[in-house]
Amino acid sequence: MANKDGGKARHDDWITEDYVEEIHAYLDEMMHDDHVKGLRDRLVHQIHDELLQAHDFAAAATDKPRAKATNASLVEATGQYLIPNYGRLPVAMVRGHGATLFDANGKEYIDLFAGFGAGGVTGHSHPAVAKAIRKMASTLQTVGNLFTNPWQVDLAKAITENAFAQPGGKVFFCHSGAEANEAALKLARLAGGLDGKKRWKLVSFHHCFHGRTMGGLSLTPEKYQAGFEPLLPGCAKATYGDLDSVAALLDDETAALFAEPIQGEGGMTVPSVEFMQGLRKLCTDRGVALVCDEVWTAPARTGKWFAFQHYGIEPDILTLGKACGGGLPLAACVAAPKLADVLQPGKHGCTLGGNPLCAAAGAATFKLIRDQNLLDAATRKGAAVAQALRDANVPKVKDVRGKGLMLGIELDGPGKDIFARCLARGLLINVTQDTVIRIAPPLVIEDGLLAKGIDVLIEELRR
Ligand SMILES: Cc1ncc(COP(=O)(O)O)c(C=O)c1O
Repeated sequence: MANKDGGKARHDDWITEDYVEEIHAYLDEMMHDDHVKGLRDRLVHQIHDELLQAHDFAAAATDKPRAKATNASLVEATGQYLIPNYGRLPVAMVRGHGATLFDANGKEYIDLFAGFGAGGVTGHSHPAVAKAIRKMASTLQTVGNLFTNPWQVDLAKAITENAFAQPGGKVFFCHSGAEANEAALKLARLAGGLDGKKRWKLVSFHHCFHGRTMGGLSLTPEKYQAGFEPLLPGCAKATYGDLDSVAALLDDETAALFAEPIQGEGGMTVPSVEFMQGLRKLCTDRGVALVCDEVWTAPARTGKWFAFQHYGIEPDILTLGKACGGGLPLAACVAAPKLADVLQPGKHGCTLGGNPLCAAAGAATFKLIRDQNLLDAATRKGAAVAQALRDANVPKVKDVRGKGLMLGIELDGPGKDIFARCLARGLLINVTQDTVIRIAPPLVIEDGLLAKGIDVLIEELRR
């Protein structure tokens, strides 16, 4: 290519940032074309081995320069170098797009669980999220929270405008669901619940899950607490669905009640509208802050921005995690207007919380939900899955429940063999509470791929 002086252009004369952006935009657009997608998948398959060989991690993790990494070699290296706190599967996922994952052996999987919902709304490596990350990665990654951060503002605006009827809600950003709940419980204690009394006790529910930090753990069932005692004093658990059990525990010293609008780990239990409205009323009447833990259920997974919106209520504090950063570590404690200014300077913090990189990924995720109407997608696809499962009429299925693309299939016995058979066939699901299969695919999953995955699941349920 000749430049205006007639000489040969150096590559940086014409590869401007705008040009690169244009090419990325063109490629992103192409990736939505089914034919191009098919070609890309075949090509990617072919170069899979070479890619893995060239990848630094393969050599580093296996300690064998240029060695071909396999599931087995990576699992072995994991056992050698990582603390064994996870019951890991013998599979190393190395690549993904949408609702498709590939392991180190090149095997392809349909992902109906999306990494506990965390890769969950926009799918793996969504081009729009990847683009936002790419752009921020070469612009500004982190500067700490003493500076104004416009990407946080962008995302906080999207969260609060979609969460609360009145303006004035505010957001604190951190990295994980547990940290978001930690911030929520500190905020509720400092505020003294809703009436500013000396309140410190916390109430949650049996079969809940609020995280593994000492605060989150104190709210979470006893089976997770064993060996870590003593926990926070003043924590008690009510029975999900039983308002009387809640009323019996909320007193003048209770700062907050933590409730999931659908219990995820607890078995995909969907409460009634009356129950959730009853919680709201009890909390308001007794001066207790209602915290909705939406780490699993938001954004958009249940067909609404936030699952509490199914019940016609608003919480005083809302916690988010998992999917809100489009796959990057991002979580949030969101205060309704009346509690928005409780945490004053010095009262709480998180060095990397909401750094430009993660906040930009979160903002891209919220934009995508809006632009691609993923709320409706979750509702429509979830209804289709639930219908297919009910129509299949499998004797061992006792119940199909949930909202949007957050579904539970209750079995008449343990589900671990079904899980293993699905995994062997390249289908990722999850089992909780031994007998409840969880389905929570990325909301962007193509209808055909979703139907294919559900067909495999139904076949395995029938065996
Ligand atoms: C409802 C709920 N809250 C909090 C958490 C903790 O989130 P994290 O693992 O990001 O700390 C989880 C994790 O599964 C969850 O399901």
